[in-house]
Amino acid sequence: MFDHAVLEARLQRIAPALSAALGDSLLLVHAGLPVPLPENTDQTYPFLAHSEYVYLTGLECAGGIVAFDPLTSGPSAWQSFVPELTESERIWEGRSQCPGTLLPHLTDWLQQRSSRPVVHLGAPPADRPADPARLATIREVLKHLRRPKDAAEVALLRRAAACTGAGYAALRAHLRPGVTERSLQIEMEAAFCRAGATGTGYGSIVGSGPNAAVLHFDPSHRILQQGEFVLVDAGARVDRYVCDVTRTYVVGAAPTPFQRDLHQLVLEVEETAIARCRPGAEWKDLHLQAAVQIASGLIHLGLMRGRAEDLVEREAHTLFFPHGLGHLVGLGVRDASGTAPGRTKDPRPSLRTLRTDLPLAEGYVITVEPGIYFIPTLLEDPVRRERFADCVHWDRADALIGTGGVRIEDNLHITSGAPENLTAHIPKAP
Ligand code: GLY
Ligand code: MN
Ligand code: MN
Repeated sequence: MFDHAVLEARLQRIAPALSAALGDSLLLVHAGLPVPLPENTDQTYPFLAHSEYVYLTGLECAGGIVAFDPLTSGPSAWQSFVPELTESERIWEGRSQCPGTLLPHLTDWLQQRSSRPVVHLGAPPADRPADPARLATIREVLKHLRRPKDAAEVALLRRAAACTGAGYAALRAHLRPGVTERSLQIEMEAAFCRAGATGTGYGSIVGSGPNAAVLHFDPSHRILQQGEFVLVDAGARVDRYVCDVTRTYVVGAAPTPFQRDLHQLVLEVEETAIARCRPGAEWKDLHLQAAVQIASGLIHLGLMRGRAEDLVEREAHTLFFPHGLGHLVGLGVRDASGTAPGRTKDPRPSLRTLRTDLPLAEGYVITVEPGIYFIPTLLEDPVRRERFADCVHWDRADALIGTGGVRIEDNLHITSGAPENLTAHIPKAP
C-alpha cells in the first residue's frame, strides 16, 4: 500500500509528538485478529487490520504488532513484528509471509525494556492490561497526527475518487423507473471494481422515494417510481482509502419546481461551505452557517418561519437537517474525525448534531454533506411538534412526508489555497 520511503518519512514525522506524549512508555499497536463467524469454525468476517496499524505499516497483517520506543532515536525506534505464516494459511488462503521481524522476537524487545510501562493501541487482545485514560490520551495524539494526509494517501484517494466516478456513471446509465434500489447498487459497485477499486468504502446507500429520508438506508428491492427522489451515498475503496459521495436524482423525469428548488438549496449550501474550506477555518462555523442557510432557504420555500438565526439557536433546523456538515475521510469513512486536541463537546444546542469540531488544516480531507429531509420520526414526534410549533408551517411539512430528501456530498482536500474537490467530476444535476 505504501513504499518504504513513504512509511519511513511518516514514522519520522510523527515520532517527536508521540514521544512527548508517551514519556518513557512503550507503544504497541496491534493489527487485530480475524473474528470467526458464529457457529462456523473455519469462516471469519472479512479481515481489516485496525486503521492505526495500517497507517503505521501499510500492512493488512492479522496478528501483526508495531512497536515504538520513544527513548530510541531514528528509524530503529520503530519495529514491526509479524506472525510466521502457517502451512495451513499457505494451502487454504495462498497467503505469503508478511514482511517484518517474527513475533517471538517481541518478547526479547520487551525484556530489554522490562521496567517500562506499555500503552496498547489498535486492536489488542482482551487480556492486555490497559489504562483506559492513558490509552485515550495517546490515541487522540496519534489521531491528530494522522489528520494531514501525505502525498501517497492523497494519491490513493484520487484513485478511489476516479473509481467512485465510474460507479456513479454506471448507476446513472441504469437509472430509470422500474429498476430496484438493489440493482442500482449492483451496477454501481460492479463499476467501482471494474475501474480498479478494492471494494466499497462502506455499505452503499440507495434510497428511493420515502427511503431517501433514511440517512443510512440499506438498498432494498423497492422499485423506483417515475418522478421521485433517489438518494445515492457510496464510495469506492482503493486499498484502505475511501471516498464518501452523495448525489440525489429525480427518477426518469424533469424535477418539479419544488424538487428543483430543494436540490438547488442544498447545492448552494454545499458550495458555500466548500468555498470556506481553507486552513484555519473552524468546522463548527461552517456547520452553523450551513444550518442558517438551510433554515433561511426553508423559510423561503414556505416550510419554516421566523428568523433563520433564531431557528438555529433553538435547534429547529435539526427537524430537517439532523446531522453534521461532514467528517474527515480517508483511511476509512470516519478517518481520524472528532475534536481537536483539548476540546470537549461544544454544549450549544445549535451544535448538538455536530461530532467534528476542529480547525481545518492543510492536508486534511473532509466531506461536505448538507442535506434536507422529511423524516417521519422527527416530524411526527409530538414533543418536537409542541416545542417547535411556531417554527414550522406544519401542514406543508406534513404534506412532504414520504418524499424523502436531498443530500449532496463531496470530499475536499484542504490546501494552502482553494480546496481541491476530489469528487467534483461526479455530476450533481438532479
Ligand atoms: N456515508 C455515510 C456518511 O455520509 O457519512
Ligand atoms: Mn456519505
Ligand atoms: Mn459522509
